Amino acid sequence: MVPVQQSLPPRLGRFEVGAKIGGGGMATIYVGRGADKDELVALKVIRDELAHDENFSAMFVDEAKILARLSHPNVIHTLEYGVTGHHRFIAMELLSGRTYADLWDVLVGKGETMPLLLGAWICARVAEGLHSAHELVDDDGNPLGVIHRDVNPTNIFLTHSGTVKLIDFGLAKARVRMSKSADGIVKGKIPYLAPEQAKAAPIDRRIDVYALGTTLWESVTMKRLFKRDNDVATLRAIRDAHVPNPRDTDPDFPEALWKVIEKALKVDREERYPTAAAMQKDLDAFLGDAAGEQPKELARLLHDIFPEAEAQDTRWLRDAASVRAPKHTMPPPAPLATASSSLLEDVEEEIQNRESVRSEHVEAARREAREKRKREKKRRPPPPQKQKKKKRKKPRQVAEAQPLRDTREEASPKGRVWVSFAIVAAVVAILWFLFVNR
Ligand SMILES: Nc1ncnc2c1ncn2[C@@H]1O[C@H](COP(=O)(O)OP(=O)(O)O)[C@@H](O)[C@H]1O
Ligand SMILES: [Mg+2]
Repeated sequence: MVPVQQSLPPRLGRFEVGAKIGGGGMATIYVGRGADKDELVALKVIRDELAHDENFSAMFVDEAKILARLSHPNVIHTLEYGVTGHHRFIAMELLSGRTYADLWDVLVGKGETMPLLLGAWICARVAEGLHSAHELVDDDGNPLGVIHRDVNPTNIFLTHSGTVKLIDFGLAKARVRMSKSADGIVKGKIPYLAPEQAKAAPIDRRIDVYALGTTLWESVTMKRLFKRDNDVATLRAIRDAHVPNPRDTDPDFPEALWKVIEKALKVDREERYPTAAAMQKDLDAFLGDAAGEQPKELARLLHDIFPEAEAQDTRWLRDAASVRAPKHTMPPPAPLATASSSLLEDVEEEIQNRESVRSEHVEAARREAREKRKREKKRRPPPPQKQKKKKRKKPRQVAEAQPLRDTREEASPKGRVWVSFAIVAAVVAILWFLFVNR
């Protein structure tokens, strides 16, 4: 097996590196194969251009360390992590399925909706996985204070067998970090930020609850809650925090589900669910017995929306791990929009700049208008009404006067001299003629 990326070694740790299956902000995901040929894994490898960056590497290692401690059915399972040359990698269980974002996009494209109960169940499972991460402790039992910080549909993986896995702890921030803090490098997708993040206030696990609330609202409405045309407008929407109640347009929308969304999306985090577990409890109470049906529902929906995908994925993953035929190469997913702290600061600055520029513009425009008015006042003809009367008279005067001026006034005194001279000359000529002919 020859590596796909020239710069990547053929092996990472004990794994052969296969084709690329995903990637975004910080890392690329490859299929990996263990010594036992049937052992297929997902290898998350820090991107080449970031591999030498200490902060990114530290953040990546932190993800690995956090993941290594995590063991929950709703969280991606980490097998091991290591470094080969300057390449840091995490080996994870290889999942076969689609992200929640993929499913949502296809449903929207087809004009279909996400089954309400299934959407609620998926979010309940994510809440369960999140809570296990939030509650992580170190070897001495001290809380690690993990915050995922990037909960959104692209990081929720739905498997063909009907399970839900929270992935991508790349931005997770443990309060107690073993490495130098990488805080401030990447802070998650803007449309899923909580209002306190948009204000750059200190954060805790409740930002993850808020992001899950946004995801839940979008699941049940098939619309984007805070996403706007640009980051500035999106941040404003997050600060305004207006959450339309689906019951306003659909009276049949369950009140209990709206209550969960409302509580997860409280601007004041003291009123928000204090833990992801509390949100999960309410979601499961809303689901009742229907919860048990949902894994089957999920598998069925994925099968309907992506027919043959499971068989294809399995075939493709085998091929990807053994042969690197280009025809099997999956199109790389679109890069994810992530926000760095500097971007956030840039955006904030931009808002302020725009406001100050706007007020400067307004002030300059006012000043100019004032000066213009003054200038006009100075050379202004009489007020409109008088001017009108004059205007009406003037054309008549001009019309009568002009012909007169043409005939009389334009005959100059010089002209008159010449006429007199001609008359005298003519008289002299006549007299001379008569005198000669006598
Ligand atoms: N364990 C896995 N098994 C299969 N595909 C995966 C796995 N982990 C990630 N992926 C795919 O790679 C994509 C990017 O992975 P992610 O961990 O979210 O990295 P990033 O930091 O680039 O967002 C995911 O959206 C998913 O499609
Ligand atoms: Mg991701």
